Amino acid sequence: MSQTNAEVRTQSGLDNVIAAETVLSHVDGAAGRLIVRGFDLEEVAGYSVEAMLALLWDGFVDHACTEQDIRVALGKARVEAFATLGKIQPVAALSEVEELRLLLSRLPDASPTPHHLLAVAATAVFTAAIVRRRRGETPIAPDAKLGHAEDFLRMIRGTSVSKAHARALEAYLVTVADHGLNASTFTARVIASTRAGLLSAVVGALCALKGPLHGGAPGPVLDMLDAIGSEANIRPWLDDALADGERLMGFGHRVYRVRDPRADVLKRVASDLREGGRIRFAEKVEAVALEALAVHKANRKLETNVEFYTALVLEALGLPRTTFTNVFAVGRVAGWTAHILEQEQSGRMIRPQSRYVGPSPKQPLAA
Ligand code: ACO
Repeated sequence: MSQTNAEVRTQSGLDNVIAAETVLSHVDGAAGRLIVRGFDLEEVAGYSVEAMLALLWDGFVDHACTEQDIRVALGKARVEAFATLGKIQPVAALSEVEELRLLLSRLPDASPTPHHLLAVAATAVFTAAIVRRRRGETPIAPDAKLGHAEDFLRMIRGTSVSKAHARALEAYLVTVADHGLNASTFTARVIASTRAGLLSAVVGALCALKGPLHGGAPGPVLDMLDAIGSEANIRPWLDDALADGERLMGFGHRVYRVRDPRADVLKRVASDLREGGRIRFAEKVEAVALEALAVHKANRKLETNVEFYTALVLEALGLPRTTFTNVFAVGRVAGWTAHILEQEQSGRMIRPQSRYVGPSPKQPLAA
């Protein structure tokens, strides 16, 4: 029996395929809930990065896995990652995420530092160094005594960081730490399943994250707000964009059919951080965009996703939009490493099949 277009589309995106069993996180798309190791997102959003890592790595690593142990080990790993930067010269032709990809791929498989710690540490250290070098500034060495989120922001800014800013960034990093079998995490698990090693799996995951349909969306969310410019222009701008077949960045999700719960957490973080004008404008754009999507995409329920308010949080922290995807990676590398460790511990090689629809050979195929 021939398949309908809708069936082919669903199949090509593996929409309802269970490709792994995991104890790490569950996305309930109908209820709009994210569960991380038995806790609702709302319960863990106040965790430190180290506490989130302890939660995710528990049972998968052979070192002590309390928040404090990880704080010490991660601080040391940041210092080690910084030493690998050495005299590597930035490559002007690369975007920031391409440069992060390059730097991470230089980490040797032979490194004696446990690779899950090195990957988390290096993603933050390299992201900070890339931002500074783009501004013509020298990278700043990590301070192993600080928490990961605070040190990351300090390495970017070169000055001490207020508690409010450190906490806001931490809330963002923890909120995006893990999210079921999203495209980058799936990529990491496929690579890990071949036993290629954790560092290779993280580099592959970053490559998947980089796409505008996944982790590349928050920068363009700000571009959209800027292009709209005024309240009067919201609806005409959105109508034109949708009529031209464009996708509105920060809206839609493969799994959520209701509002992404991460959007609510980050909306609160953004509102705590910044003056009301920008937030009020963004809220207006959000509300009108949902109305416009309901008209232009009536066959599909499209809601706000995590990237919309991510953009406002990261902007309020003074981070350049060119680095947003890398900052996403600084958070999501927690989930990638946990999934890689889980895959290495229990998973078989992932090797699905394709359905051949090419020309028939002279000798017909068996039915
Ligand atoms: N704006 C306009 N139309 C959209 C949007 C959007 N943001 N999202 C989906 N659609 C439309 C598509 O054009 C398509 O319409 P059609 O049936 O008329 O062709 C229909 O909805 C289904 O599109 P798919 O790509 O099959 O839907 P999918 O579930 O795979 O989409 C995705 C998920 C890729 C996130 C999509 O909603 C999108 O492109 N959003 C914008 C980019 C974005 O915000 N990405 C961040 C996602 S969150 C994250 O990854 C961390």
